[in-house]
Amino acid sequence: MAEIAVIGCGQAGLVVATSFASLGHQVVGIDIDRRKIEACSRGISPIREPGLDALLLDGVQSGRLTFLAEYPDVIEADFVFIAVDTPTSPSGACDLRALKSATTSMAPVLRDDAIVVNKSTVPVGTCDEIERLLRTSGAPRATVVSNPEFLQEGDAVRNFTQPDRIVLGSNHPASLARVASLYQDFDAPIFTCDVRTAEMIKYASNAFLAMKISFINEMASICDVLGADVSHVAGGMGLDPRIGGKFLRAGIGWGGSCFPKDVTALEYAASLHGVRAQLLRGVVETNRDMRRQVIRKLRDELGPIESTRVVVLGASFKPHTSDIRESPALEVANLLRLGGAEVRVVDGHVAPEDVTAQFPHLVVTDDLLEAARDADAIVLATEWPEFLELPFDELARVMRRPLIVDGRNVLDDRVVRDAGFIYRCIGRPGAEGGTPVITEVVNERIDREPVLVRNGRSPVLASD
Ligand code: UDX
Repeated sequence: MAEIAVIGCGQAGLVVATSFASLGHQVVGIDIDRRKIEACSRGISPIREPGLDALLLDGVQSGRLTFLAEYPDVIEADFVFIAVDTPTSPSGACDLRALKSATTSMAPVLRDDAIVVNKSTVPVGTCDEIERLLRTSGAPRATVVSNPEFLQEGDAVRNFTQPDRIVLGSNHPASLARVASLYQDFDAPIFTCDVRTAEMIKYASNAFLAMKISFINEMASICDVLGADVSHVAGGMGLDPRIGGKFLRAGIGWGGSCFPKDVTALEYAASLHGVRAQLLRGVVETNRDMRRQVIRKLRDELGPIESTRVVVLGASFKPHTSDIRESPALEVANLLRLGGAEVRVVDGHVAPEDVTAQFPHLVVTDDLLEAARDADAIVLATEWPEFLELPFDELARVMRRPLIVDGRNVLDDRVVRDAGFIYRCIGRPGAEGGTPVITEVVNERIDREPVLVRNGRSPVLASD
C-alpha cells in the first residue's frame, strides 16, 4: 500500500482521496480552505456526491484518511496528486494561479523520490511547467505524471472506482510505471503516452462530448423547422456503434464546471498558436443559441417577454447536483430577467443564496405552486425527477396562462396537453400538437435573410 497526498479537496480531490483510502492506501488531503478541512476531518463531506459521505466517514474513522489545512514540514507521500481548481479567466485562458501556488508550496516539503501526479485539467504544456517550477522551488529531482480525471458529477465515485480508462502521461517512464502500479487492480485499460498528449486527451474528450450535445441540438433546431423528431433521430443515429447513443439528449445545452471552461480554454490555446478552431467556436455558439431558443419559443406564444411572469424549473446545471456553475437553467432565467420578465426559479436542491450571489435579481424557491400563481409560463430547464410528474391540473388552475416550454424534452406531451397546457419543446414539433411543419419558406436560404412562417405563428428563425 502506498502513501498518498492529495492537494485540493474539491469535487475531484475528495473523490480521489477517499477512493484511494478505501482501497487501503494511507491518504492525507491538503487544502488551504480551513472550513473544508475541518468538515472533512470530522467525516462530513462539504460536497454533495453520491457515495462520498460513506467513503469519507469510513476513511476518517479507520485512520487511513487525514486532512491538513497547511503544508507539513515533510509531505510523507510516495505520490502527491494535484487536484486544484483551474477556472477560466476573463480572457478565456485557464487560470493556473492555484496550481502554481500549490506547486511552490509543496516543492520544499516533498520527499526526494515523490512523484507529482496532476489531475487538474490544464493547458497542454502545463505539466512540463509544473516540473520546472518544482525543480526551481526546492524539489530538484521531482517528476510529474499527468493523470487526467474523467469524473462526472453525481457519478464521480463510481467513475473513479470503475473507470472506462486510466490515462497516464509522462516523460519519465519509471515514474509512469510507478503510478500505473497504483491502478494495477482496476478493471480498466491503462493508456500511457507522453505528458502533453495526456493533457490533450482530457481537453479533446470534453470538447468532443460538448460537440456531440451541440450537434444534436443543432439537429433539433433543424427538426423543429422540418417536422422531424430529434429524440427519435438521436435514437436511430445512436444505434450505429460508430456514433453511440450517449450524450445525444437535445435540450437547452450543456453547462457545469468542466465543458464551458475546457472548450473555451482549448479554443483559446489554439488561437494563441495561430489555429482557428472553428468547430469549437461553433460548438460554443450553438450552445449559447439553445438558451435563446427558449426565449423565442416563449415569445412565439406570449408576444413580448417584458412584464410576463415565468417560472424556471431547476437551478443546478444538471439534476442530482447542487452545483450551479455555468448552469443553463440560470442562464435562461437571467436572459428572461434581462428581457423584463419576472422570474421565479424553483429548485429545492440548491442554496438560494448561492444563486442570488451570482444573479441578485432572481427569486429562488422550492414552493412550485406558489411560484406558478399567476404565471404566464413554465420553463423546464433542469430535469430533476420531481419535475417529470408535475401537478399539471393544479398548475393550470393557478397559472394565468397554461404554457410549458420543456427545455429538456422529458415531459409526456400528451399528459401535459390533456391538462390544458400549450406544450413547446426542443426539436419535436410533432409533440407540440398541431401541424408540425413550417408551411411557408419565403426565401430559400437562411443566409438570404429568410422569413420563416410557422403555421401562422410569428417568425421563429429570423435573427432575434
Ligand atoms: C463532464 C464530463 O462528462 C466528465 O467526463 C468530465 O470529467 C467533467 O465534465 P459533468 O460536468 O459532471 O461531467 O456533467 P455531464 O454529465 O457530462 O453533463 C454536462 C452538461 O451537458 C450538463 O449541463 C448536461 O445537462 C448536459 N447534457 C449532457 C446534455 O445537454 N445532453 C446530453 O445528452 C448529456
